[in-house]
Amino acid sequence: MDRLSLSEGQIYGVMGPSGAGKSTLLRLLNLLDEPTAGRILYRGRDTARYRPRLELRRRMAMVFQKPVLFDGTVFENVAYGLRLRGLPGREVRRKVAENLRAVGLEHLAKERARTLSGGEAQRVALARALILEPDVLLLDEPTSNLDPQNVALLEELIRNANSRMGTTVILVTHNVFQARRLADRVVFLYEGRVVEEGAAAEVFSSPRDERTRAFVHGDMVY
Ligand SMILES: Nc1ncnc2c1ncn2[C@@H]1O[C@H](COP(=O)(O)OP(=O)(O)OP(=O)(O)O)[C@@H](O)[C@H]1O
Ligand SMILES: [Mg+2]
Repeated sequence: MDRLSLSEGQIYGVMGPSGAGKSTLLRLLNLLDEPTAGRILYRGRDTARYRPRLELRRRMAMVFQKPVLFDGTVFENVAYGLRLRGLPGREVRRKVAENLRAVGLEHLAKERARTLSGGEAQRVALARALILEPDVLLLDEPTSNLDPQNVALLEELIRNANSRMGTTVILVTHNVFQARRLADRVVFLYEGRVVEEGAAAEVFSSPRDERTRAFVHGDMVY
């Protein structure tokens, strides 16, 4: 039986060919999907029986490959989660300003989110996740549609969240170089199974599994 144990405060790079189950793993961790077999424990507690469920969901935030923003202003998008949590307006405004500043978009607060460029939209999506100060940040190929400058910025923001707030980051990426830059540990999936997990430096320099080796060396088509 596969067993994957994720430690707090680490940045995990989740890799593997297309269809390996990376997005599925993130959706399971985020409690968007229910496992048909096996269990997911959060700090030792079975997530299927965790109550209140909302409390658990609120410890996690997710960012997708395509930025998911609703039709409203940038401010409203970033404020949304805090409003749901019932924070007073003044607090919300302060935090939104702070988080937009962090992603370099304070000047766009009043713009409609759908008028943003891809890179700007993804930065808003990240600000919207980070403002919630999640314990776990789940990222599904968050930079694969972005230009190098935005990639570097997003990577910096992810690294900062991890080092400043101790956010555990689970980053799905196809990019071996990105995983090398960011990940403390690497999880390699193949056909729905965990075939390798270990310290990034080790997995990249001397992968134990032959499929991981092929992937790391760019021999595997994905
Ligand atoms: N809810 C579901 N029920 C059953 N099968 C599913 C479900 N969601 C995805 N799958 C299948 O599970 C496999 C893994 O899909 P998943 O989207 O997790 O792959 P992935 O590793 O994220 O791939 P990619 O790199 O292309 O994004 C695929 O074969 C997919 O068709
Ligand atoms: Mg996927």
